[in-house]
Amino acid sequence: MHKIYIKMGAPERPGVRDMVRTTISVVKADVGSVVGHHRPHQKMIEHARKKLREAEETGLIKSFYVYSVGDDLGLVMTHHRGEENPEIHELAWNVFKEITEKVAKPLKLYGAGQDLLRDAFSGNVRGLGPGVAELEFEERASDPVIVFAADKTEPGAWNLPLYKIFADPFNTAGLVIDPRLRDGFVFEILNVKENTKVRLKAPEESYDILALLGTPGTYCVSKVYRASDGEPAAAASVSRLSLIAGKYVGKDDPVLIVRAQSGFPAVGEILAPFAVPYLVAGWMRGSHNGPLMPVSFKKGSAISFFDGPPRVIAMGWQIADGKLVGVDGTEPSDLFDDPFWDYSRQLASQLAIYMRSMGEFMPARLDPSEMEYTALPQILEKIRKKQEILG
Ligand code: F6R
Ligand code: MG
Ligand code: MG
Repeated sequence: MHKIYIKMGAPERPGVRDMVRTTISVVKADVGSVVGHHRPHQKMIEHARKKLREAEETGLIKSFYVYSVGDDLGLVMTHHRGEENPEIHELAWNVFKEITEKVAKPLKLYGAGQDLLRDAFSGNVRGLGPGVAELEFEERASDPVIVFAADKTEPGAWNLPLYKIFADPFNTAGLVIDPRLRDGFVFEILNVKENTKVRLKAPEESYDILALLGTPGTYCVSKVYRASDGEPAAAASVSRLSLIAGKYVGKDDPVLIVRAQSGFPAVGEILAPFAVPYLVAGWMRGSHNGPLMPVSFKKGSAISFFDGPPRVIAMGWQIADGKLVGVDGTEPSDLFDDPFWDYSRQLASQLAIYMRSMGEFMPARLDPSEMEYTALPQILEKIRKKQEILG
């Protein structure tokens, strides 16, 4: 029965199957901000737009949008060059490099060039500092896409919503009542500490998936595929700056691309898991657990209370012939700009104040192995002479 529906979900326009595949590349970095780690300078955003407009004119990319969340600057680019394309990655690298040199450093912005860990580009921005999420697919008759971007947290922060969106029938009604979703989804999960990956399928292996995803500092979802036909459904940025640099140099604030509707979860099912702000690692000094607050990218994306709380924005587009179609040009729909999310923000504020009441006590403060800042080695060294050996 469901096979018939899969056919129904296939592109309706004649010849659409022969079309070139479209890729969405999202590359983000913190290369400097105003008032500490608060928000990028407007000139940085304008410079990024100028460079991407030039790349659009040469035909390297088909369309773009520049966003910011907290102190991160993000480039959303569409093109036909596939994932991991060196020219696209070099473009993004050059944008961040130029912004650092021409805007952030001259204005003495805070943390200028912070996420650019190497001096020179070497074929792929992965491993050089910026976070990357890419998704290549054949356009359907109509292809709604959401890009989430979060600040003051890490890639494992997507584990909980991705599980709910693609595997939890209490979140996604379509898993129960839409025949096109009933075959489930395949999760590609990375162990970022051991650099291994495994593919597990929901619903059959959902307990195994949950067993891994519950440890977000180690396991992160990198991709999700529709089980019935292998169609890509979601892609997340998974590099961790800490591990790239060999030491903690900053939490790698993550991005996530999700396709919606007609055989994928609906937009509302994709947004639903953010209604109850769950706790994520990051926040102040990358060393605390805090609630992830869903915010409008126009009104609330700059952090404040205790350098947070961690926050997430959601940008919605249609993809048409390789281009981003927003509500006005490439301007995306601001999906958390709805009075509904005021309730979630209120809850996040309450949870944030509650967590802060614990000060530097775990679990409000992270386990020492996950902390970005720690004075513990110096403290241990200092007390070594005073301590007595027991037994
Ligand atoms: C966390 C973050 C901030 C800083 C904090 C201290 O990702 O960016 O919370 O860690 O403001 O920053 P420094 O050490 O630069 O004074
Ligand atoms: Mg910063
Ligand atoms: Mg940041």
